[in-house]
Amino acid sequence: MKSDQTVLILDFGSQYTQLITRRVRELGYYSVVLSGDSSLEKIQNHHPVAILFSGGPASVYESSSPQLDSDFFAYQKEKNIPVLGVCYGLQLMVHHLGGKVVGADHREYGRMKVIPQGASILPSTPFYSWMSHGDETKEIPKGFQVTAKSESGALVTIENLERKCIGLQFHPEVTHTEHGILILKNFLENTAGLKPSWKMTSVRESQVKEIKEQVGPEDHVICALSGGVDSTVAATLVHEAIGNRLHCVFVDHGMLRYEEANRVMALFEKELKLPVECIDASETFLNHLKNVEDPEQKRKIIGEQFIRTFEKFSEKLEKKLGKKIKYLVQGTLYPDVIESNPAPHAGEDKKSGHHAVTIKSHHNVGGLPKDFKFKLIEPLRDLFKDEVRLLGKELSVPESFLERHPFPGPGLAVRIMGEITADRIKVLQKADEIFIKSLHEYGLYSKIWQAFAVFLPVRSVGVQGDGRTHDHVVALRAVTSHDGMTADWYPFESSFLADVSNRICNQVNGVGRVVYDVSSKPPATIEWE
Ligand code: XMP
Repeated sequence: MKSDQTVLILDFGSQYTQLITRRVRELGYYSVVLSGDSSLEKIQNHHPVAILFSGGPASVYESSSPQLDSDFFAYQKEKNIPVLGVCYGLQLMVHHLGGKVVGADHREYGRMKVIPQGASILPSTPFYSWMSHGDETKEIPKGFQVTAKSESGALVTIENLERKCIGLQFHPEVTHTEHGILILKNFLENTAGLKPSWKMTSVRESQVKEIKEQVGPEDHVICALSGGVDSTVAATLVHEAIGNRLHCVFVDHGMLRYEEANRVMALFEKELKLPVECIDASETFLNHLKNVEDPEQKRKIIGEQFIRTFEKFSEKLEKKLGKKIKYLVQGTLYPDVIESNPAPHAGEDKKSGHHAVTIKSHHNVGGLPKDFKFKLIEPLRDLFKDEVRLLGKELSVPESFLERHPFPGPGLAVRIMGEITADRIKVLQKADEIFIKSLHEYGLYSKIWQAFAVFLPVRSVGVQGDGRTHDHVVALRAVTSHDGMTADWYPFESSFLADVSNRICNQVNGVGRVVYDVSSKPPATIEWE
């Protein structure tokens, strides 16, 4: 996905790097994330028109902290590329340009008032920002000036406009910072002098062209459809590029929602003009997952079994077509890529490419087996979920697909805590179905980003009729979100929760208690595993 105006985000390990990228895109600029310690050559290859440094958990003065290429600032000066450093990014700028960063007496975490003093990209009056840092700038580099302070007089922003370098100690990308978007907009428009130019029509055109170039004129491609937005949009895009040389498969791994396989196949037939074959591989998947409790292991097993199933499907197809299948389409999204392999943190071996904070191995990124025989086509690899929905609209994918809540590839496997058994799947499917049906009934489904039930392998005491019960617990989860990167629990009316709880306890054998999850992301994640 190329653009003649790339805004580069250099990632130094902040969990908010993706948010910076999103904000820049929301403002209409194509943005790419690179690891902060990328070589200058790699950075130059993107021909960036502006560069942002993310925050990060390390301290710039530690020898093992992620550092910029030593020639970076010479290049930046020569090309006069505007740079905005956020938190660790500010400190990195100070450190590299001759200033001094030291450990602060106490960590600063949370809301803080900013008092601007003639800053070029901040509002002129005080506002609240969000901070998270343990180091502070003791000396600023030559040519820089302090352009905002905190109420206690601590340095908050610095700039050297001649050099086009600006540093912010707070995070403009998080919603807790007032005017955060405006500050980023001011940097891109005023400091960098850019005009927004990135739209979904350009994504469609460039992706179709890229797929045509990647896949030869005679090559056939397979695609696994999950019934969700991502794979459907990815397949539609590839179909637009190569027509009926695309062959889709829907794998029933036995951990789908209630009646999901039948429903999805009916949707594909009626609403999409894509030929799809359904493979029931549930027995194989469940056999491989017997006695497995560890969430990462579950994901890896499922990832591998998916690939084995695709291989069988492609072998059958190869016999029929009399030619090799080289490509597999996946609906991998940008957050999957970033969350599965974030930037290095202090103390990591950068050469080995090993990064410490892998939040989860998403099955389609972290879980691919070593002997993987396909080349991947991942047309959504640069997009966030809401951007995929926009692209789907652009491609006339029916609303019924675009409106569906996201469903993770490993399915109910990551919603059954502990071991997965056929009985547990049945219980969860029923409870989940009641919850989702109730959301539709109450007109709440489209107000929620994602909702589901979770099976907890604990038993709690209850009383039913005249007897004591000792049944399982089901947790309900419903969140609002823009992209799955951050999320808030949905504030249901208590009458709705009471109704759903009643229905589940009365209609699902083996469930004696229903609880509602009131955790946001962060600190929790959306899924329970
Ligand atoms: P978390 O739980 O990381 O979820 O907050 C964010 C979004 O990603 C989905 N998710 C997955 N999707 N394979 C997928 O295809 C996975 O392994 C996976 N894990 C989480 C999750 O449902 C939510 O929409």
